[in-house]
Amino acid sequence: MNKIKVGIIGSGFIAEHHCYSYSLLPNVEIVGLSSLLKDQATDLMKKFGIPGDPLKDYKDLLKIECDVISICVPNFLHKDITIDVINSGKHALVEKPLARYVSEGKEMLDASESANRKIFYCENNMYAPTFSKVKEIIDEGGLGRIYMGRGKEQHSGPHSAWFYKKDKAGGGALVDLGIHDIACLVWYLGCKVKEVFCQIKTIVPNRGEFGTCEVEDNAVGVLYFENDAQVIIEESWTAPGGYDMRFELFGTEGQIKVAPTFSNLISVYSEKGYGYAVEKASTTAGWTFPVPAEAWNFGYPQEIKHFIDCIIENKEPLTDGKYGQEILTIVEAMYKSAESKKIEEVNY
Ligand SMILES: NC(=O)c1ccc[n+]([C@@H]2O[C@H](COP(=O)([O-])OP(=O)(O)OC[C@H]3O[C@@H](n4cnc5c(N)ncnc54)[C@H](O)[C@@H]3O)[C@@H](O)[C@H]2O)c1
Repeated sequence: MNKIKVGIIGSGFIAEHHCYSYSLLPNVEIVGLSSLLKDQATDLMKKFGIPGDPLKDYKDLLKIECDVISICVPNFLHKDITIDVINSGKHALVEKPLARYVSEGKEMLDASESANRKIFYCENNMYAPTFSKVKEIIDEGGLGRIYMGRGKEQHSGPHSAWFYKKDKAGGGALVDLGIHDIACLVWYLGCKVKEVFCQIKTIVPNRGEFGTCEVEDNAVGVLYFENDAQVIIEESWTAPGGYDMRFELFGTEGQIKVAPTFSNLISVYSEKGYGYAVEKASTTAGWTFPVPAEAWNFGYPQEIKHFIDCIIENKEPLTDGKYGQEILTIVEAMYKSAESKKIEEVNY
């Protein structure tokens, strides 16, 4: 069997999820990794048996023969690295958000079209089993016409300094977490967002070792859909207690609530605490709600397998670069609304 050859750029949080997900696929071989952080990269390469040494300059990775590259770097690098990857003849797996700004996303899509190489947009929530089940129920007509709802993603804040810097991240909780909710909601409702309203705030400006939080750490917004539905989103980087993600959707013939974390699948009370409960939980003492098979529950391996299958079978993915750009366009309109304090149209 000819294996699909993969390169990885980055060795941080999400790069590890990509490496783990590829390692589950017998038809995939990781051929190299580039990162600025040598020790972190060396550890990751050892853990997943990736050959060679970490490459400091990602352009050296592009010289290695491979089919696709996972781009697992801070948001401000998505545009240039994706364009270089595509122009080197490889497909690009780009993490969310597609880029910091719609203008950057457009350059990436243009490059993808001219070079005839695909952008796979990594929106793991659309591959998560609980969220996929919701989509199935909606498509089977279980809820009737959805007219209202809410989505939220909350935790205590990201794990690296760059997330908190405007020029590196492009924005805060809205573009980092809200982007997940919006991607699922557009998929669930199956129609465009017409207008948006949004308010953003920074509640904790001093982030200790990460310095100043230059972006919003809280965002509340309303998405007005073409089918007349209005859906609230609530995004926070100041909520301790572990990653909380959930949707409630109301339809003319039903309603649904979904929460892959903070579920009652397992409830533990522990005086001393134990190993690990869920992403971003700072303690396991007291009452906790551990998430079984977290990577699988969050959809990372299913997402990566889908992309590899799309390469082998030359199929279009569920989440391509254009989808990433559509969601980013909604986010950008929400930032505009936060500034104007008015409802803004989404101009695709
Ligand atoms: N899908 C998700 O749920 C999810 C979760 C976390 C992060 N992400 C996204 O993944 C991306 C990376 O986030 P992260 O949490 O892994 O960040 P991180 O801070 O944990 O890691 C960043 C990595 O980028 C590497 N890097 C930076 N500049 C580089 C360069 N020029 N060449 C090579 N490597 C370079 C660093 O060495 C580091 O290993 C972001 O776009 C983020 O939004 C997605």
